[in-house]
Amino acid sequence: MIPRRKPRFYKGELKDILRSILSGKFLDGEHIERFRKEFADYIGTGYAIPACSGRNAMELILEGLNLNKGDEIILPAYTLKDLVRLIQEKGLVVRLADIEEDTFNVDPAAIEKKITERTKVVMVTHLFGLPCNIEEITGIAERHNVDVIEDCTHALGAVYKGKRVGSFGRAGFFSFEATKPVNTFGGGMVVTNDGGIASTAESVVKGYPFDRGSVLTKTGYAYLERLMVATQLFSLLNLCFVFGFTGKILSKLYLFLHSRARARYTRFTNLQAFLGIRQLSDLDERNEGRNRTALKLTERLNSDPDTGFLPQGYGEGRIFYFYVIRAVIRGELERIRKRMLLRGVDVGIKEEITDDCSLIADGVDHYPVVKNVFGSAVQLPVYDGLRDKDLDFIVKALKRSLK
Ligand SMILES: Cc1ncc(COP(=O)(O)O)c(C=O)c1O
Repeated sequence: MIPRRKPRFYKGELKDILRSILSGKFLDGEHIERFRKEFADYIGTGYAIPACSGRNAMELILEGLNLNKGDEIILPAYTLKDLVRLIQEKGLVVRLADIEEDTFNVDPAAIEKKITERTKVVMVTHLFGLPCNIEEITGIAERHNVDVIEDCTHALGAVYKGKRVGSFGRAGFFSFEATKPVNTFGGGMVVTNDGGIASTAESVVKGYPFDRGSVLTKTGYAYLERLMVATQLFSLLNLCFVFGFTGKILSKLYLFLHSRARARYTRFTNLQAFLGIRQLSDLDERNEGRNRTALKLTERLNSDPDTGFLPQGYGEGRIFYFYVIRAVIRGELERIRKRMLLRGVDVGIKEEITDDCSLIADGVDHYPVVKNVFGSAVQLPVYDGLRDKDLDFIVKALKRSLK
C-alpha cells in the first residue's frame, strides 16, 4: 500500500533526540538563536521568531498588527478552516475571495473586489507549495493601504521571481508539523522585516511555558504514523475503510494527527531548533528531489489525454508539499478513493486536502471555483523516497479507478 503522506525523519534522528533528553538541553539552549538566524537568512527577512505551530505564528502576527474588533481580513476561500475560526475568535471579520481555476491560489481580482474601508489585511496562501501571484496582490494592497500576510505553511523554500516566499508581505508564517519539508514535530515561524511585529511576537512567546511533554507527544504521534504506514496496520485500517466497517476512520485519524499541532501554547524548544537547523541545511536538495518526482508524475499523467485528470499548474519556483489534481469526473470522489485504496494507493480528498471555508465564514456558498475544486481535487502521494515504479503504480491505479 502506498500511503498518501509520510512523516519525514533523517538517519540518526532518534539518537539526536535521546542525546538531547539526556544532556539536559532539551528545552532551552543555543540552537534556538542559531535556527532563528539561519531561517531569517534563508528567507531573506530581518527577523524570524519561532512559534508553537503555523496557526500560532499567524496569531502572533495579528497581535503585532494592533487590529481592532470589526476590522476585516481577506482570506482565500480555499484554505485551512481553523484559520478562519482563530481570526473570528479575535473579533475580526473574515472576508473570503475565490481562487483561480488552474493554480487553486487566490485570485487577485477577487481580492480587490472584497476590499472595503474596514479592510486591514489580505492574507494569501501559497497553496500546496505553488507561489500565488504575490506581485499583483502586493500591488493591490499598496493601492488600498492594506497589509499583506503570507501563509507559507505549504511553501518553505518556494521562490517567486528570485525571492523566497515569506519575504514579500509585511509578515509571513511557516509550519514545521510532521509532514512538512522541515519537521520539528510541531512548531512554526513568524518572518518579518517589521521590528514592531517581531518584538510583539517575541514577548508573547516568552510568556509560553517550555513543555517537554507536548513535544514528546507530537514526536510520538509522528513515529506512530510512520510505523503505521510502514506496516500492515495501515493496510488493515485502509481495508476497514474500504469496506465501511469503521466509517471514516482513516480520514478521522489523519485529521486528528493534524490537529495535534495546535493542542497547546508552548515554547519552541532547543531540540526542535536543532532538528530544524539540520533539515534546513539540505532543504533545497530535498525540495528539488520532490520536484523531480512531481514532474515525472505529471509526465505520466499528461502522456494520456484520456486520463481525466488536470494537475495543479506547475509554476516556476514552486515546491511540492502536496501534488493535487482535479478529477474531471465530478461528484464521485469517494468512489474514486475507494477504488484507489483497493488498488493499493491511498489518496486524500475534500477536507483532508484543505477546506472550502465559504460556509463557516459567510454562511453561504458563493465561490464557484472553490466549490468546483473542493469537489474534484485529489491529493496523490509525492514524498521523498517514491521510486519510478511507485509512480507507474499510482498512475495505473488512477487510470483504472476512473473507468
Ligand atoms: C493552509 C494552511 N495554513 C496554516 C496551517 C497551520 O499550520 P500548523 O498545522 O503548523 O498550525 C496549515 C496546516 O497545515 C495549512 O494547511
